[in-house]
Amino acid sequence: MSSGSAGGTSFEGRGPITYVAGADNTGTVRAVLDRWNRLHPKEKVTFVELPTDPDAQRQQMIQNAATRSDAFTVLSLDVVWNSEFAAHRWVDRLPEDRFPLGDMLKPIVTTGMYRGGLYSVPASSDGGLLYYRTDLLKRAGIARPPVTWAELKADCARVRKLPAARGMACYAGQFHKYEGLTVNFAEAVDSAGGAVTDAQGRPQVNSPEAKAGLDFLVGSLKDGTVPQEAVTYQEEDARRAFQSGKLVFERQWPYMYPLAARKDGSSKVAGRFAVAPLPGLHGPGASSLGGHNLALSASAKNKATALDFIRFYTSQATQRFTLAYAPAAPTYEALYQDPRLVRKYPYLPVLKRSILHAVPRPRVFGYGDVTAAIQREAFAALTGEKSSASALRDLQRDLRRQAAGK
Ligand code: GLC
Repeated sequence: MSSGSAGGTSFEGRGPITYVAGADNTGTVRAVLDRWNRLHPKEKVTFVELPTDPDAQRQQMIQNAATRSDAFTVLSLDVVWNSEFAAHRWVDRLPEDRFPLGDMLKPIVTTGMYRGGLYSVPASSDGGLLYYRTDLLKRAGIARPPVTWAELKADCARVRKLPAARGMACYAGQFHKYEGLTVNFAEAVDSAGGAVTDAQGRPQVNSPEAKAGLDFLVGSLKDGTVPQEAVTYQEEDARRAFQSGKLVFERQWPYMYPLAARKDGSSKVAGRFAVAPLPGLHGPGASSLGGHNLALSASAKNKATALDFIRFYTSQATQRFTLAYAPAAPTYEALYQDPRLVRKYPYLPVLKRSILHAVPRPRVFGYGDVTAAIQREAFAALTGEKSSASALRDLQRDLRRQAAGK
């Protein structure tokens, strides 16, 4: 019955399990689960599909843990929740030797570690990319995508003079008050040479560099580079705006690539866009490291089955299968090198670079409070309720207080 042990957990029991994750926008999750269920008729997995909003997913998972319910077995954790879930022992420590972690990109593996132990196994990664309209840049006589924010603005000014660009906005990311704002805020700060926290996790956000980063976002909303409605955008809103031809540039994850490339009429920009590294203040910017890892709920049943399922779901074979089905960001280095895949998904080399240069969001025990403070202060600055300077000062004070446990 037993399937090994780690950190005192014995992985025992076989039978039905559940897989708990955010909304399956591409249909990939169902395809993978169907495959497992065909192979394991006595250990079927049922999909518990949570909302798209990561903050809502986290809440439901915490509630399941708090009531020690066995309704959730395998959790798809956003990489930023690993420390919090591990520290609270809401998830079990996993046996490292059962997973080919050495074949994965290193920064991705780090997202599953806590105090030297493995608590979640990377299933997919994520890195921010600058999507841009190749047709419009070409028509405006622009030879390469922008590397700095100033270039991005200058390119927009030229593109917007084209009759074909009438009514278009320049740029958007995800600026609604949710986890995506933490991602976009941290990217702006990091891309201006600042940092939200230092390597020891100490808050560092009240700096001239961080201010330059936040000022780029605030100033862009003020001068119309970013449309006002972008403060309501989550990933799907921004994707729809880009796909319907409203934006010249968009910061987005790789999941949009195949969707925007569809030739069935659902995307107006099919064949007219490409991706580049995110721009920054003085040169290329830095992405926030995203992605999802599989963890095992501590209060779950059938842990031997769950461990096998995690191995299956995070295997290179499954990632190859999902790439053929609906592309995402693989965790295995080999998949970024495969010439056939690169031909099919030209974003892969840009994405690999984005991931290798990406900056993790604060890796802290109380991540929920940290991200809430970032969202509150960044949103106040974006909506003009506070100046960048006072938002950053208040954020620094808040993060410091949290770090001191007050
Ligand atoms: C993506 C990323 C995740 C991030 C989220 C923000 O799902 O993979 O890490 O937190 O977007 O909306």
